[in-house]
Amino acid sequence: MKELIRSLVEAYGPSGSEGQVRELISAQVQGAATSVRTDALGNLIATVKGTGGGRRIMLAAHMDEIGLVASYVDEKGFVRFQPIGGVSTRTLVGGRVRFAGGLRGVIGAEQKDVGDLPRIDQLFIDVGARSRESCPVAVGDVACFDRPFVDLGERLVAKAFDDRIACAVLIQAMQELGETAHEVSFVFTVQEEVGLRGAQTAAYGVDAELGIAVDVTLTGDTPQARTMAVGLGAGPAIKVKDRGMLAHQGVRRWMERTAQAEGIPYQLEVLEAGTTDGMAMQTTRAGIPVGVLSIPSRYVHTPSEMVDYQDVLNSVRLLVALLKKPVEL
Ligand code: CO
Ligand code: ZN
Repeated sequence: MKELIRSLVEAYGPSGSEGQVRELISAQVQGAATSVRTDALGNLIATVKGTGGGRRIMLAAHMDEIGLVASYVDEKGFVRFQPIGGVSTRTLVGGRVRFAGGLRGVIGAEQKDVGDLPRIDQLFIDVGARSRESCPVAVGDVACFDRPFVDLGERLVAKAFDDRIACAVLIQAMQELGETAHEVSFVFTVQEEVGLRGAQTAAYGVDAELGIAVDVTLTGDTPQARTMAVGLGAGPAIKVKDRGMLAHQGVRRWMERTAQAEGIPYQLEVLEAGTTDGMAMQTTRAGIPVGVLSIPSRYVHTPSEMVDYQDVLNSVRLLVALLKKPVEL
């Protein structure tokens, strides 16, 4: 599974520019799905029809990652930019970025009046150009962080584990699923990082009876971390609440019972900040019960996010176990 993960996390796909990720995933799901389609916003919807008698279930993992968009090129060829999604300038200076066509650049900072934490308008991308005329970047061009996947053995490091690790979990679960009574739509959503926009339209279109979003969550297991009862290596986290939603209690208990029955370790997640596609799914149409399976990750929204490989494998196991059995809320 590590090779699948590597190809997904190294792919280019900031919000609104998910095409390269969609192509990769599309190739992976063709064999296992009954039907595969892309909607108007760019969500990839791969449905397993099932043998009948079950529920219509929507799973969501977002394809997009945070990134930068060029907003101005000065006469010397330095590129000013705006963030796409929740980018902290704390993580930017000295970093490298990659544009859609593969062009790379480094992020520099103005050297006057820059405090401990520079403002975004004090930073720029240097692609090695000498002038505006020779600069290959145009206003509107979008870049992602440029970091390779690193396999530390038990732990993995990459940009964009948020949320490509969940894309990998959905793909793997789909390939391992085999027979199920449920009609399951595996939805790879767009534009989560800018406001759950893809999940909003996909959930309406899929019209499911039950939803599970799969995304990363923060941990409380690093030095001086915020108090949080989630750590790497203790299993997938089952969401209780975050800033945007309260998980449906029936779905949450069903997820817990299934993990217990299968002997899969799990943790309960109460997340102070942030939310997931689950929020958009829960409030679609007249509303549906939604739970969230979270993969614990350190350093979320930095170019070096870290997950535990066993947590990833256990997330696949839990998802497959859930989809194999009748839903009991
Ligand atoms: Co995110
Ligand atoms: Zn996410």
